[in-house]
Amino acid sequence: MDNSSVSIAQDILNHADIVKVVGSYLTLYKQGRNYKAVCPFHDDTNPSLVVSPEKKMFKCFVCGTGGNAITFVQKYEHISYGEAMKKVADICDYHPAGLDNISRPKKVDEKREALLKCLYDLNLYYQFSLNTPEGKAGLDYLESRHLDTVLRNKYKLGYANKDGKSTIEFLKKKGHSIKTIEDTGIAKMIGGGSYADMNEGRVTFPICDPDGNVIGFSARRLVNDDTAKYMNSPETYLFHKSNNLYNFHIAKEAAKLKGYIYICEGFMDVYALARIGIDAAVAIMGTALTSEQIALLRTLNVELRLCLDGDLPGQSAMMKIAKVLSANGIQFRVVDNQGSSKDPDEILNEDGPKALEEYLNKMVSHNDFALNYYLRSNPLKTVEEKKALVKQFLPILANLNSQLELDSYLRKLSQITGFNVESIRSLVKQARMQARTGEGLKVEKNLFQNFHPEREALQKLVTAERELLYQMSRNKAAVAFYEQNVGGFYDDIYRQLANFMVEYALTHDDMDVSGVMVLVENSDLENKDEILNDLSSLVIETHPDECNKQLLDNLLSTIDSEKNRITSEDMLNDSLKGKSELEKARIIAEFRRREMIKKK
Ligand code: GTP
Ligand code: MN
Repeated sequence: MDNSSVSIAQDILNHADIVKVVGSYLTLYKQGRNYKAVCPFHDDTNPSLVVSPEKKMFKCFVCGTGGNAITFVQKYEHISYGEAMKKVADICDYHPAGLDNISRPKKVDEKREALLKCLYDLNLYYQFSLNTPEGKAGLDYLESRHLDTVLRNKYKLGYANKDGKSTIEFLKKKGHSIKTIEDTGIAKMIGGGSYADMNEGRVTFPICDPDGNVIGFSARRLVNDDTAKYMNSPETYLFHKSNNLYNFHIAKEAAKLKGYIYICEGFMDVYALARIGIDAAVAIMGTALTSEQIALLRTLNVELRLCLDGDLPGQSAMMKIAKVLSANGIQFRVVDNQGSSKDPDEILNEDGPKALEEYLNKMVSHNDFALNYYLRSNPLKTVEEKKALVKQFLPILANLNSQLELDSYLRKLSQITGFNVESIRSLVKQARMQARTGEGLKVEKNLFQNFHPEREALQKLVTAERELLYQMSRNKAAVAFYEQNVGGFYDDIYRQLANFMVEYALTHDDMDVSGVMVLVENSDLENKDEILNDLSSLVIETHPDECNKQLLDNLLSTIDSEKNRITSEDMLNDSLKGKSELEKARIIAEFRRREMIKKK
């Protein structure tokens, strides 16, 4: 990054509202002057990420990850710093001049382009085949499943001819190399060095990336035989099933408009919802929702509506998904279909559009869903499991305002666990008391020691160095004081940070943490993440705001005397090496005696 992009980054950071940026990815809860969120950078359950609008920083006090608005987006989306700058600019609707020139035009990925072109041609061929005499069987099948011309075109459905070799011939004629055809994943070896279409004789469902490019296929058999009902493309350079959601490219716009999105199991469910006018629906193509898929859904910032099947596998899959979503602070509800044996496609075909609409509109909260699930499927066997369930529900129950609601939950919990309603009630009372005495989440000063255990032993020194560093981050006079009086910090990370501050002070009239961050971010240091994390937690901490000579002198004197102490202890330790226990004891005693004299 050159100088101009560094200053553009800083310009964006000055204008960007970090609350808006983080808030477009995570659900934020206001707490005093700051906001909290469930941290996406570690396996978090309690909101431990703090966002400070004043300092324009975020910081997780559990995993230590922290930074500014740009580094947040960069880390969250796994993209480059330049790309993240653009995203932040978009979110905050602030586009400084020169921004467009920053990240060089994306490097053309020739392999990707060749594969996309090949899959595009292939899908046209499948679509075309559907309307030829050979494709009649496929067409009849899709018709039998109520997929008319409009739907077939919308979802670009097709048919792979029974003679799989002809597909390969077609692609070769279109100019695609056999290597590219192989790399799409659709070719299977049939001996004699020749290939055939793995989808042959099946109806085809193209799977697209979020931009609508075909990246793979699923193909369904037409009759019940002993082959797989659906066959997916293998994992390829382009196609990673678990990173994609079927129909996301169509659903995303509709979802933003409606404020929700239905998450279904299969293709046919997506079509059923479309048939009654709901385009905001995706299929997970099975029963697992991966973290990549969750990340994709999260960008929509809408309510997720889980609509997996009502059978036991569907329900237990939804329980798992619900846990993950709720741990990530994502808003969702669950379609209340427990025990229902029909999927949306079957409901629409057998009971009509009204029935499907009612089905989709009957939703319950995570809590209700979970309790119903435990009530019906009875999966908790041991007392420990039952206790854990009650414990899990206590904070929820403690927060309920309605007595009726509380009673109904208590009854259900009692039924599930066999514990007495009144004993659970008394636990709820206890939980309420605890909440009132404020044993909630506290952001404590000096939390930094949690993730640098080695600093604990040096607490006095590190605390003083840290405080001086804090003053340096906001005050040029403190930087000058450091340069004149402190020959480098003892703590490695602090020393590196101090260097960056000195560098920043050289070229700027006032100190600005976000500017220092940009310097660190653009350095080549291997441990820059660690440095950034430390810097971001530093600025969110509370230290005395006023920086005067007295404060600086006090810090300096602590730093000096602690350094002396540590150096002499280090020397002591060196002198103990290889000595017998008795000799060690003598040396230590002598050392302590001299220390005592020095203090007097
Ligand atoms: P239909 O039987 O065509 O109505 O499909 P369905 O949606 O009712 O299928 P089901 O509930 O059995 O499966 C839901 C989703 O799981 C499907 O849409 C597929 O994405 C996937 N799936 C089902 N069967 C298979 C299979 O045999 N192989 C693979 N790879 N995926 C399958
Ligand atoms: Mn079905």
